Parts: sequence; C-alpha cells; structure tokens
Amino acid sequence: MKRLAPSILSADFSCLAEQVKKVEEGGAHLIHIDVMDGHFVPNISYGAVVVKSLLGKTDLPFDVHLMIEHPEQYIDDFVTEHTEYITVHQEACPHLHKTIHQIKSLGIKAGVSINPATPVATLFEILEEVDLVLVMSVNPGFGGQRFIKSSLRKIKELELLRSKKNLDFVIEVDGGIDGTNVNSVIDQGADIVVMGSSIYKEKQIEERTKEIIALMHNKEK
Ligand code: DX5
Ligand code: ZN
Repeated sequence: MKRLAPSILSADFSCLAEQVKKVEEGGAHLIHIDVMDGHFVPNISYGAVVVKSLLGKTDLPFDVHLMIEHPEQYIDDFVTEHTEYITVHQEACPHLHKTIHQIKSLGIKAGVSINPATPVATLFEILEEVDLVLVMSVNPGFGGQRFIKSSLRKIKELELLRSKKNLDFVIEVDGGIDGTNVNSVIDQGADIVVMGSSIYKEKQIEERTKEIIALMHNKEK
C-alpha cells in the first residue's frame, strides 16, 4: 500500500496536537517529523521534546527525519513506542553502517536519506541493511520549495536496484510534492510520499488529506 506522511514542519505549532489529529482523521498513515539543527541544514526546527509531546495525542506512527550533524549522538532521544522509522543522512554519516545498526539495535526501522546532488550509487553498500531510503526532492531545510525533477530518475534507479538485488526497503520521497506530481513520484516507485505545505497550508486540513489519499495511485508493489 502506498502511504502518505504529512510533515508537521508546515503545521501551526501553537496547536500541534490538533494539527496532527486532523491529518490522522483524514487517513494519513504516518507523521513525518523533520528535525533540523542549523548546521547540516540552514534552519532549526524542533527536537525530541516536541516529538515526545505528541505521545498520547495520536495513534499514528512517527517517521523521524534527522537533518542533523552527528545523528548518532541523538538517536536514542527519538526512540518512543510510536517511532517506526528513524532516518539519517548519508552526507552526515561517515560511519553509516554503524549508525544504521545503532538504530536497528534499538528496535526501530532504519532509513538513509540522500540530498538532490548525492547519487544513488553512494548507497550501494548499505542497501541490504536499511528498511527505508528517503530521496530528497528539494535541498533540505525549508518547506514549500519547488520539486526537483531529476529526483524522479533517482527513484526509478532505486526501484530497479531493489528488484535486481531482491531487497525490500521502502522508498520515500520528500520535498515539493503536491496533488499535481504525487503520482509521478509513485509511478517511479515511491511507497511513502511526504507532504508538508501542500497539506498544512490548506484551510481544511482533514479534507485535503482525504483528497490527496483518494488521488494517489495505489497499485501494490
Ligand atoms: C525539507 C523537509 C521536508 C519538507 C516537506 O527540508 O525534509 O519534509 O518540509 O515540505 P514540502 O512538502 O512543503 O516541500
Ligand atoms: Zn523530511
């Protein structure tokens, strides 16, 4: 099943729990949590205390995207009973194999992400170890940016590698996705699509979530 992960980066933080409830009621499958440190990316978002404040406020699993340097020092902080995935950036992990296994040893599914200018080939030695690959389709740091079209090729490349090597990681795509391009992303092989501004900047968040899910192509992979 194809899954929608709304990103709370574009939510109204003054009522975050309500904003999460709205996408949950609209049928979202995961909550995408963008953690930024002002070093790996030129913006600061929120940390583990904010994530933990959502415990008990939603039944949705947490999809934690760490856009931070030295993620290995902070992984433990994001482990909760709701955390399904923790994703680190290839560009931030000189010891990626070790960091991926650190996440898995905590009982959490491990993801690796690549920025737009990072080739899929850099993941070749780690694909067998990961549960998820996150293709960034904007330069990370801010919501509301324009989708970078060359990402479509990277999604396809990953999909082909996955079949060729008989692997089962899921492919997630993040950045600049809206109702007009969501199905191009899915058709190339994405299993999880992240949407921030195209959901949270709408007035009727629950209705918008339903509308997006209804239009997503949903053939089984
Ligand atoms: C970018 C973040 C994304 C982003 C998605 O740095 O990782 O999750 O907020 O937002 P939109 O959908 O607005 O591009
Ligand atoms: Zn993200």
